[in-house]
Amino acid sequence: MHTLIFATNNQHKVLEIQSLVGNDFKIISLKEAHIDIDIPEPHDSLQENAAEKANTIFQLTQQNCFSEDTGLEIEALHGAPGVKSARFAGDGCDFQANIDKVLLNLGNSENRTAQFRTVICLIWRNAMETKQYFFEGICKGHITLEMHGVQGFGYDPIFIPDGSTKSFAQMTIEEKNKISHRQKAVTQLFEFLRSQ
Ligand code: IMP
Repeated sequence: MHTLIFATNNQHKVLEIQSLVGNDFKIISLKEAHIDIDIPEPHDSLQENAAEKANTIFQLTQQNCFSEDTGLEIEALHGAPGVKSARFAGDGCDFQANIDKVLLNLGNSENRTAQFRTVICLIWRNAMETKQYFFEGICKGHITLEMHGVQGFGYDPIFIPDGSTKSFAQMTIEEKNKISHRQKAVTQLFEFLRSQ
C-alpha cells in the first residue's frame, strides 16, 4: 500500500477524498503526519497555490504528497470569489460570512451560473526522478437565492450542481462524491497513481 500525505488542514476534504480512495492508498493528513503549519496561498491561481502547498510539504518531509486548491467561480461576479474563496469576506472569515457576501453581491441577478474548480498538485518520486503533476476537476451549477441544507462545508448550502435539485449541503458525502469537482480531480490523480 502506498502512503501519500495530503497537504491540508481541512478535515472535510480529507474525509471526502478518503472515502473515494479505497484500500490501495493510505492518505495521511498534515495532522496525522504531525506537521503543524498553516501553508500560505499567496498566488493568483489555483494551480500556483496547489503547487506551493505540495512543494512546501515535500521539502519538509521528502515524501510523496499532494495538495489541492479549490475555488468557486461565479460568472456574474467575473469569476469571483475564485482563488480567494476561503477569504472572500476577509482574512479569518468563516463560511457564513463568505456565503453572505456572495448572496449580497449577486442580489437578484438572473445569471447565477457558477462552477467549482479543483486543481490537484502531486509531487511524485519514483526510482528515477521527482516530478510535479497537475489534475483538474470542474463541477458546473448555479447559486441559489438562499441557503439549503446543513451537510458539507464552505459554499455547499448555496450551490446546486447541474442535473440536481439538491444543493451540495442537502447531499450525503457519497452523493456529493459522485459528481463533485474534487471527485473528478481525485479520480484522475488515482488513475495516474495506479498506472505507476
Ligand atoms: P481551499 O483554499 O482550497 O481550501 O478552499 C477555498 C474555499 O473554497 C474553502 O474555504 C471553502 O469555503 C470553499 N470550498 C472548497 N471546496 C468546497 C466544496 O467542495 N464545497 C463548498 N465550498 C468549498
